[in-house]
Amino acid sequence: MQNLKSLNVSGKRVLVRVDYNVPVSGGVVQDDTRVTASLPTIRALLEAGARNVILMSHFGRPKNGPEEKYSLKPVAPVLEGVLGQPVTFIAGTADSDETLAAVQALPEGAVALLENVRFSAGEEKNDADLNGRLARLGDAFVLDAFGSAHRAHSSVSGVAGLLPHAGGLLLEAEVTALGKLLNNPEHPYVVIIGGAKVSDKLLVIENLLPTVDRMLIGGGMAYTFVKAQGGKIGKSIHEDDFLDKARELLAKYGEKIVLPTDTLAGDAFSAEANTRVVPTADIPDDWEGMDIGPDSQKAFAQALEGAKTVFWNGPMGVFEFDKFASGTNAIARAVADLGAGTYSVIGGGDSVSAINKSGQADRVSHISTGGGASLELLEGKALPGVEAMK
Ligand code: 3PG
Ligand code: MG
Repeated sequence: MQNLKSLNVSGKRVLVRVDYNVPVSGGVVQDDTRVTASLPTIRALLEAGARNVILMSHFGRPKNGPEEKYSLKPVAPVLEGVLGQPVTFIAGTADSDETLAAVQALPEGAVALLENVRFSAGEEKNDADLNGRLARLGDAFVLDAFGSAHRAHSSVSGVAGLLPHAGGLLLEAEVTALGKLLNNPEHPYVVIIGGAKVSDKLLVIENLLPTVDRMLIGGGMAYTFVKAQGGKIGKSIHEDDFLDKARELLAKYGEKIVLPTDTLAGDAFSAEANTRVVPTADIPDDWEGMDIGPDSQKAFAQALEGAKTVFWNGPMGVFEFDKFASGTNAIARAVADLGAGTYSVIGGGDSVSAINKSGQADRVSHISTGGGASLELLEGKALPGVEAMK
């Protein structure tokens, strides 16, 4: 990958693709992790004498042009706060002549944030005309949006073909950190996978199983595996289409796969549900599994002990309801408790927010800003954004 050092930015306008697709509620940014993660690259460019840093990002999935609720405007003051210098928000669509004029009028040293690049119709189609219009905004291009690196979009890979380009510091750090999980990881290597659906994580599970020593499977997807083994899972979420696949994986990698033996079940999918702890393979008919149980929390923590490499993606239960957050929090603690002797990586929005909430984030080796991007990388796929920086 071409890195920042290889790019001559002195006196240049540098167009930087960041991923500021952050959670916003009521016009207020709820988590600034992705904004903070972009600071090293912005600062490095300013220090290297860039004339301007012009940041562009998508936000949400608008389908029909500009829409207030998808505006990146609320992110500008957050960036200003963490960067400690003014940020000019340019409100026109990124491809408009007005935006070009506003960029050209920026004083030397200014940092600007463009409006949501998905307001332009061609963005997700990697449209050649849009690539050209975006390329007018800079003399050089830097991709620092690791979270979007799996998208072959105009602002990610398209514009890179038209300008001198390099991967930013975040992109580089992410690719290096996640790459260690694929290339010669130190053993014992333990992976914890959670989340609602097997189908979302199947390719990662299949790509990592041959390499890992243990794979702990929690969250809603565990019930598909338990049902595949003939267990009674009550009303728990599961995917019948993946029962055969689950059986195949259990037959081939049964000694590596650790499933929860007990479950905190609820009598409704609700924050106020009544609860009881039951065996995962014997959940009463009208109840559904909502979190891993206390025995499983202990067993998972034990399975992590002594690990030299750990990757965790996906919550262990319906952790957005406090009653069912204990399994996910226990995993966050167990991973953090492994300490500095273990190379630990956490990816995916839910696991990242769990570790952030637990106050233990500084005790893991790497927290990825990428959800889908980190998974695709661990599936063994080439990411279009990363490829474009080669
Ligand atoms: C994310 O939040 O996963 C990234 O920003 C990518 O967003 P997208 O799935 O809408 O492309
Ligand atoms: Mg290239």
